[in-house]
Amino acid sequence: MRSRAQYLREMGLTPWTLITDARVIARQQTDLVSSELESPGEVALSDWTSLQQQVGNCMRCSLHETRKTTVFGEGDPKADWLLVGEAPGAEEDRQGLPFVGRAGQLLNRMLFSVDLSRDEVFVANVLKCRPPDNRDPFGEEVNACESFLHRQVESIQPKIILAMGRFAAQALLRTDQAIGQLRGRVHRYPAYDIPLVVTYHPAYLLRSPQAKAKAWEDLILALAEFKSVPGSENI
Ligand code: URA
Repeated sequence: MRSRAQYLREMGLTPWTLITDARVIARQQTDLVSSELESPGEVALSDWTSLQQQVGNCMRCSLHETRKTTVFGEGDPKADWLLVGEAPGAEEDRQGLPFVGRAGQLLNRMLFSVDLSRDEVFVANVLKCRPPDNRDPFGEEVNACESFLHRQVESIQPKIILAMGRFAAQALLRTDQAIGQLRGRVHRYPAYDIPLVVTYHPAYLLRSPQAKAKAWEDLILALAEFKSVPGSENI
């Protein structure tokens, strides 16, 4: 078992003493209900392979014209942890896999810091296609794509969801609240009552390393919440 100081060093952080125990941060139930997940663009309930095919063939928005390949997601389709990012970048678009660039390397270190590896989790994005020039996703693209993500959650049934960045948090929680308001407490993914923790996007952490300390607190909060799920205490 590594010490907390080792975890911190693996994340590229100087060890320090936590002032706030993230576990005592108040939980807040979101008041979303499952019916709010229904949208006109809903993906038919289907098995995993068929969902992959639907994503692979998707032409719901104009991003299909510029993508090289779709990025469905990667990892254990029955994982306890689901991590959700924003959208594929250039390298992800080439390889068809999520988080393979620099942000992905940081994500791997973040996972390692809480004793997880990429093959134990499932990593997905809100958008399955790359927005050109790495621009922010447009609202209509999120609307067209997000039901794929909701079906992934439904199929994986993870024990904890880590929403990385504003787009993931807002799409999963159906809110327009800012990330600063969403961090630091445990939300519930509507419909399945799955605990959900919001943290910064790894690409943001690369640009703003001072935020890594808060990201560490988010990971500890997610880990504590995961361990509190009956049956997960000793995982
Ligand atoms: N950023 C994301 O949000 N997702 C990826 O897959 C890569 C970078």
